[in-house]
Amino acid sequence: MSEKLFSGKKITVGITGGIAAYKAADIVSWLNQQGAEVTVAMTKSACEFITPLTMKTLSGRPVACDINSLDADFHVPHIDIASCDLFLVVPATANIIAKAACGIADELVSAALLATSAPIIFAPAMHCDMYANPATQANIKTLSARGCRFIEPGEGRLACGAIGRGRLAKVEDIKQYITDFFAEGRLLSGRRVLVTAGPTYEYIDPVRFIGNRSSGKMGYAVAAAAVEAGAEVLLVSGPCSLPVPAGVKCVRVTSAAEMEAAVREAYAEYDIVVMAAAVADYRPEQQAEQKIKKGGGMEIKLVANNDILKGLGADKGDHILVGFAAETQNLAAYATKKLVEKNLDLIIANNVAQAGAGFDGDTNIITAISPDKTEEWEMMSKRAAGRQIIKAISELPRF
Ligand code: PMT
Repeated sequence: MSEKLFSGKKITVGITGGIAAYKAADIVSWLNQQGAEVTVAMTKSACEFITPLTMKTLSGRPVACDINSLDADFHVPHIDIASCDLFLVVPATANIIAKAACGIADELVSAALLATSAPIIFAPAMHCDMYANPATQANIKTLSARGCRFIEPGEGRLACGAIGRGRLAKVEDIKQYITDFFAEGRLLSGRRVLVTAGPTYEYIDPVRFIGNRSSGKMGYAVAAAAVEAGAEVLLVSGPCSLPVPAGVKCVRVTSAAEMEAAVREAYAEYDIVVMAAAVADYRPEQQAEQKIKKGGGMEIKLVANNDILKGLGADKGDHILVGFAAETQNLAAYATKKLVEKNLDLIIANNVAQAGAGFDGDTNIITAISPDKTEEWEMMSKRAAGRQIIKAISELPRF
């Protein structure tokens, strides 16, 4: 007997009001046949396009349609359906995407989206002008930065007769996306991953420091993707205010020396290291005990910090080492030099002077270089880049 793809998985399918709602029937039926426990939640408007009875028949389970109905099937409907391994919204209207981006919870599906901690996949379907509208695009960007995934709609003839991008992606492509999503969740199972993130601060006196513009977003995204891929993850984080991703263990440090000590202490217990942190190359030779009084100029003598990653590369053993390279010119050449000098398996190069890449923003533009290949990735959210980095690690010859 062939193994079912999604045995043991709980999947909530949110259906919102658009003509493509009828296509959700095929997806729900397939998920059920593949062994998933499928709970369908429908907005009032979705119920105008396709009936709850259809979905109940195809999923083999009660369908939730009303946030206020406390019956035998659902104790507290929006909370019950929020608890799952995957929350799929198909079709996703511009309205549900906007509500999710703003945290509006005025009916069952939007309330459940606000309550869920499960990964969320939206399969948008709407008129091409609504999809292209800057408001919709900004909402998609906001949700992508929070880790939500989007299955891009297709281009073609829409219900109103217009031609453009907005029709629901092909059902077969949606099925493949869900299959890949669950496969991704096993990519690093049994692996232990150490990720560094954020800046380091090198103190001059108790109130002044030398730092840099790293927000930690890139490294935190890698940590989130690694845990989603089934790894045990330790995040060594420089000073930043981001929430630690669920399931990730975090050690907080301030200076490069503290980061080095924390990484070194854990090194033997982790088999993959990803250094996304922007580690200060220099620190003041002396740190004044009291605040230095102003008046005249100030001269600070800087001394070099250890290169943490180079040190790990010199003591590599069976570890897989992944570095980042922050450059402003000659991206591939400088990054390749670092790949070789630090004895790395993969280097994630970003041009920090390029719009949409590098420090602080929600997106990055990456050139991924390993000893045998170089790939240029298109601009994507840092959350998506984190997932792509994990996939690239899983494809390394030494993995
Ligand atoms: O945090 P964000 O705002 O999201 O920004 C993301 C980022 C720009 C910080 C990230 O994408 C990035 O490029 N991180 C690496 C920054 C950096 O220090 O690059 P580098 O080229 O100077 O260093 C090369 C590698 O050596 C890096 O993996 C770095 O962590 C490591 N290193 C550097 C210096 C040092 N003393 N010890 C190190 O281990």
